[in-house]
Amino acid sequence: MRLRKNSALTEAIKEYADIVFLRGQTGSALLGKTGLEVEIGSGRGGFITALAAANKEKFFVGVESKTDVLYYAARKIRDSALSNVRLIEGDAAGLENWFSPGQAEAVYINFCDPWPKARHGKRRLVFRDFLYKYHNISVPGGRLYFKTDNRRLFAFALEEFAFCGLKIILQTLDLHNSGYENQTWTEYERKFHKLGLPVCFCAAVFCSAPEKTF
Ligand SMILES: C[S@@+](CC[C@H](N)C(=O)[O-])C[C@H]1O[C@@H](n2cnc3c(N)ncnc32)[C@H](O)[C@@H]1O
Repeated sequence: MRLRKNSALTEAIKEYADIVFLRGQTGSALLGKTGLEVEIGSGRGGFITALAAANKEKFFVGVESKTDVLYYAARKIRDSALSNVRLIEGDAAGLENWFSPGQAEAVYINFCDPWPKARHGKRRLVFRDFLYKYHNISVPGGRLYFKTDNRRLFAFALEEFAFCGLKIILQTLDLHNSGYENQTWTEYERKFHKLGLPVCFCAAVFCSAPEKTF
């Protein structure tokens, strides 16, 4: 079934209350959970679902602001009968409403919107204000993984990572020809790969605490 109307989706997503924290809810079911792996902007959920299926001993959370794609991600999780993955319907700007400091072991940002205009730079999910939030919910030494097809965004991200004191472990402008074992693909990654576009990838570690205000 393909649902087009937003109002229909807002109703339909309620069927997935065991999987999705709906907008306005808080993540009490995440209380006390540690070692979480979190994808920001999880879209249709292909990546987080595949990771959860391959790592049943771990717990995964996808954060997604658009209800329409979130609905399809929730359906995917239900169809996979996975009990180690949840979704949050909300904006990454509100991460601290769901997570406590030190809960995340890894944060993934995959093919986030590049917001090419300079005046929109603060909306990029790799902007320092977001990095501060990811750092805040992470364990010391927590990992950050970033994939994009957009080289300008990649260069911007590397500058922001350096500003926030992240230690780069690996960086490449062509992930699929880098020798790195890229086990889990995202929907956008498959799309760009089919078009022959290289994927930039960076793995980094949160080290020193970034300043709260910039
Ligand atoms: C280009 S899609 C990529 C989807 C998926 N990560 C992939 O690689 O296939 C980016 C996703 O990030 C979501 N997004 C953008 N800004 C967000 C924010 N501030 N908080 C949560 N999700 C966001 C969008 O709604 C969209 O679904």
